[in-house]
Amino acid sequence: MALEVTRVRIEHHAPGRIGIGETRPRLSWQIAGAEPGFVQREVEVRLSRTMPGESPVTGVIALEGPDQVLVPWPGEDLRSREAFEVAVRVRDAGAWSAWSDATVAEVGLLRADDWSARPVGAAGDPGAGPHRRPERLRREFALPAGIRRARAYVTAHGVIELEINGQRVGDEILTPGWTSYRHRLRYATFDVTDLLRAGDNAIGAWLGDGWWRGRLGFGGGLKDVYGDRLAAIVQLEVEAEDGTVARIVTDDSWSAGPGPILMSDLYDGERYDAREEGDGWTLPGYAAEGWAPVTIRDDGGAALVAPTGPPLRVVETLDPVAVEAKGEGRYILDFGQNHSGRLRLRADGPEGTLIRLRHAEVLVDGELCTEPLRTAEVTDELTLAGGSTEWTPRFTIHGYRYAEVSGWPGDLAPGDVVSEVIHSDMERLGWFESSDPLVDRLHENVVWSLRGNFVDIPTDCPQRDERLGWTGDIQAFAPTASFLYDVTGLLGSWLQDLAAEQIEYDWVPPYVPYLEIPPFDKLPRDPMAVWGDVALLTPLALFERTGDRGLLERQYASAQAWLASVEAGAGPDRICAGTEQLGDWLDPNAPPEDPTRAMTDRYLVATAYFAWSARRLARTAEHLDRPDDAARYDALADEVTEAYAARYITPDGRVQDDSQTAYALTEAFGLWPDEATRERGTARMAELVDAADGRVSTGFAGTPLVTDALSGSGHLEAAYRMLECQEAPSWLYAVLNGGTTIWERWDSLRPDGTVNAGDMTSFNHYALGAIADWMHRVVAGIEAVEPGWHRIRFAPRPGGSLTHAAARHLTPYGEASISWELSDGTLAVDVTVPVGATALLDMGDGERELGHGTHRASVAWPPAG
Ligand code: BGC
Repeated sequence: MALEVTRVRIEHHAPGRIGIGETRPRLSWQIAGAEPGFVQREVEVRLSRTMPGESPVTGVIALEGPDQVLVPWPGEDLRSREAFEVAVRVRDAGAWSAWSDATVAEVGLLRADDWSARPVGAAGDPGAGPHRRPERLRREFALPAGIRRARAYVTAHGVIELEINGQRVGDEILTPGWTSYRHRLRYATFDVTDLLRAGDNAIGAWLGDGWWRGRLGFGGGLKDVYGDRLAAIVQLEVEAEDGTVARIVTDDSWSAGPGPILMSDLYDGERYDAREEGDGWTLPGYAAEGWAPVTIRDDGGAALVAPTGPPLRVVETLDPVAVEAKGEGRYILDFGQNHSGRLRLRADGPEGTLIRLRHAEVLVDGELCTEPLRTAEVTDELTLAGGSTEWTPRFTIHGYRYAEVSGWPGDLAPGDVVSEVIHSDMERLGWFESSDPLVDRLHENVVWSLRGNFVDIPTDCPQRDERLGWTGDIQAFAPTASFLYDVTGLLGSWLQDLAAEQIEYDWVPPYVPYLEIPPFDKLPRDPMAVWGDVALLTPLALFERTGDRGLLERQYASAQAWLASVEAGAGPDRICAGTEQLGDWLDPNAPPEDPTRAMTDRYLVATAYFAWSARRLARTAEHLDRPDDAARYDALADEVTEAYAARYITPDGRVQDDSQTAYALTEAFGLWPDEATRERGTARMAELVDAADGRVSTGFAGTPLVTDALSGSGHLEAAYRMLECQEAPSWLYAVLNGGTTIWERWDSLRPDGTVNAGDMTSFNHYALGAIADWMHRVVAGIEAVEPGWHRIRFAPRPGGSLTHAAARHLTPYGEASISWELSDGTLAVDVTVPVGATALLDMGDGERELGHGTHRASVAWPPAG
């Protein structure tokens, strides 16, 4: 096989992305077909750059050394609207590889003065909420012949979909997504060259309430969080063959009129009257009766920024696996899989027919169980104009497995109602399988909970009146997420919002973007462990998996400010007592009505996290070449560790509260005073697990750590006992009880078949799915030990009833994989190491060094001694 360069990537963008915001995007590439021992010593980057209206400028830049992941931009700064192509070739001492395929991208609008579009919306009083009819906006314009290239730069106060000459622009959903709008408003860029024509054209914008003024938050929540009026910001730039550019931008030449969307809300759903569609409203010559000039709105002052992550899209379509007719046009549909998305209908019926769609995650007695949705109505309605129509709500999204369709005209036929799965369109990177179908289903549930909750921001849940960027949930889950999908662009964007709001509130809010909802508006702004730790732990976790030092650097001030707030909140004794804490949230022993009343003292949890975060910040500082900071944070970590041990650990190795979480934190964070105490303490942890027959008694704080704490301290079998336990509370309990996603509570569905009556009863919360990270690293045995998978450790640890496990991950260097089989006392392992990385294989009998390529080894298992 010949040496070749593949997958040239620009930042974390999908190939071909237009409208990026980086002026010096970092480049990554992969190498295939290299001989054993190959080392990249020389690189040539062929860069071809084109400004609109100018001819391309091509040059080749030479680089030296082995770097191939997030390599600094080798050219001059890019400018707004510049299109570019990158190809790479590499060599060791010998012949050059062939040039890679060229990867293309294009810069968006980088500077405020690139924008001449203004926010425009309907004039007049928007009326009282909670739900108002959103306006549509339009204008007509003429173009000369000879269109070379056209771009639409689009954002909104609210959510927006564009149409040009009767055709939808792009396939993105809920543009511009949710950022901390007061600080950063994202825009999307579309190639609209093919939608335009010489002569008369028309452009129109659909608007919806979205996060801007729709309902947000629990306990009744808030509306109009960012404003009570919608607006579109659209800048269409059309370049002619002769190089001249026409700009059609939102300004006072647009008009606003009513549309068929009577209301649209992320929680409550969409009501749509097809009789109000106004056929041809985005075609030239439309008689825009009832339309009136728009007004220009205040721009709100936020910076318009390009996305770093992927947009929301329909990524899959599900057919129902079962349809039950309930009579009189009412049906219950089961899509077989809990997910986030919306229904798509093909309906045919008389004018005025009202079809209602309701959604839920579970059924009780064959009907939708909507209690867990709390106040979210999750209901869409379509009124038919008469005749056949295809329809899907535009600006809402639901979390469900089941739907009720009522008012259906005639019989529901296969294909009439399907479900569109919607989430951020991230690339899948990681897979796992084993000899146990239940464990595999658990893993699949983790994947689906990730998919259901990476909806532009990392949310807690996709269904009820919440769907917020809860910090603790993603802190627990980020390591798992980064193995399974390319989440760095999305999380990098969200972390920027976190840093902006941290400055605004002088606090890491419990969810980002933050809204002042009771009780948080009244509580003291104390640093909340596990949740606020996201500011420090998550950038480092992402760096370790992706090698993105830029992200680590960008978040460093935020991480430091977080730790400073914890230090200030703790007493001089370094114990975090007396602060507002959520603690080991949803420990199954806590009463359903108060998830904070866990077995483990909340201040113990907070102090353990204080010690760990100080330690992790020292490592962060080291990666960023700040040795003085590293020494200072290590010293702080030592002090807190000592204070923790003195306060919470007795010489016989008992940790206060004698709970799985207390031991897991102490072990995973390295808080034992000495090895002898550690041995006694971890033996006690294993004893607790055995006494519970593997049942789990950890919440959000302990769950991501407990299996690692066991397997890392010589109690591998106890960890497997937890993994394979089938009784509540356990991971497989949910699998055996029909779970297709990870539940918020260990017993969201109770053993007696009833739905847990507690307020926190979602069936799609990824936090407790954090065990998958342990499944990848320990069960299958694949782990990054140098940032960005530059060095890989393969250390499979078979246990429990498993006879086989495998995992693979598309690392920044290429695919790394492991597969093992256990039979007749022999463990046989196959691994793959991508070019550019090195690996260690540890099969319990010492470590062997591996270069790139495939390798096979076997040992007697269990290892002697
Ligand atoms: C959310 C959680 C979150 C918690 C903290 C809940 O309502 O769904 O996942 O972390 O509140 O208070």
